[in-house]
Amino acid sequence: MASYHSQEQTLAQLPTPSVEEVTHSGKLIEFIVDKIEQNNGVIAFREYMEYLLYTPGLGYYSAGLSKFGKDGDFVTAPEISPLFGRTLANQCQQLFDQGCDTRILEFGAGSGKLCEQILSKLDKPVDYFILEISADLRARQQSYLKQKLTFQSFDRIIWLDKLPQNFNGVVLANEVLDAMPVNLVKKQQQWIELGIGFEGQRFCGRNYSENSDAVSAIQSIEDEHGLLPEGYLTEVNLNYRPWLNSLSEVSNQIVVLMIDYGYEQALYYHPERKRGTLICHYHHRVHDDALILPGLQDVTASVDFDAVAEAAIASGFEVAGLVTQSQFLLANGLLDEVGFSNASEDTLAQLDVSQQIKTLTLPDEMGDKFKVIGLVKNLELDLPAFSGRR
Ligand SMILES: C[S@@+](CC[C@H](N)C(=O)[O-])C[C@H]1O[C@@H](n2cnc3c(N)ncnc32)[C@H](O)[C@@H]1O
Repeated sequence: MASYHSQEQTLAQLPTPSVEEVTHSGKLIEFIVDKIEQNNGVIAFREYMEYLLYTPGLGYYSAGLSKFGKDGDFVTAPEISPLFGRTLANQCQQLFDQGCDTRILEFGAGSGKLCEQILSKLDKPVDYFILEISADLRARQQSYLKQKLTFQSFDRIIWLDKLPQNFNGVVLANEVLDAMPVNLVKKQQQWIELGIGFEGQRFCGRNYSENSDAVSAIQSIEDEHGLLPEGYLTEVNLNYRPWLNSLSEVSNQIVVLMIDYGYEQALYYHPERKRGTLICHYHHRVHDDALILPGLQDVTASVDFDAVAEAAIASGFEVAGLVTQSQFLLANGLLDEVGFSNASEDTLAQLDVSQQIKTLTLPDEMGDKFKVIGLVKNLELDLPAFSGRR
């Protein structure tokens, strides 16, 4: 984990936070330090990341900072182009036409743009559930969607703070898996799970456990894919299984589409990826020091799609496939959606739309880095976007 010196260097390269931001961050630091003291000087990195992102009123996703889009810290696909949501709506329509219940459940709806894009494209209003764990984001989504949608569409959106008792239909999660807290592990002769302490007025890395679920998980990965080098630092995400299991428990017939950046396991845990995939976004700058700017920056890790698939199968789903975002969007009519923007008469608008398509699909942009995994439970359906690609 970063030394005091390298923390100073990283901070010097980032925009300086405002006085309000520093005050806000100070309150979160106090909250986390208290947790560390109650736990004899160290908490697991996973717990630290959970507090950073989700402490009510203080965490990155739970407080009132602007996160998405050009005034925030990062940009997601629905922020880049309405073509993204319209194309996803085509996929939903194709599923509804084959008998899947006409209901959508979106996890972590961000600014609300994906919901707006989908509901504006679908021919008929559908019941749309949003499960949002951040009270601040929920309030923003409500005010945004009220302005943008017809009363009939808006009236059918239901916000939830936990899973519904029964849900059949389509489940969507765009960049949700990457926002789940991960456990950090390091090979120091043997595998050790890392934790966080507080020293000299700063958070610092500590050893946490030699014998934990995270240690067992990385040992199994090493058994399957080969030995990793001494000093290898990486992360494991232990949330997939409980999360998919609870989703499976409340559903009988569903299709789950999850879009995120990540890798198949052999590439994720490649011996050369010696520092894992954990990154932070602050005002569109990317760095890897999660110990600085608590509560002011996004902290995220890539998705291990093989672990997601294994967790899904263990939870009663079938895996329909894993494809790149580019393959998925093109197979679902991305290019046919271009006309909707009426860009044909305006050259600047045309250029803008073609730039959006490039960002969504080119391999060096989001096209290959982002992938879509499709899961199905108790439904016989054709999902042409996934066929033969896994
Ligand atoms: C990177 S943002 C993506 C937001 C939005 N989907 C988009 O594409 O713009 C991650 C979102 O996932 C949400 N999230 C993380 N874990 C979640 C969970 N277990 N259930 C529901 N939402 C979750 C966060 O609150 C946040 O809104």
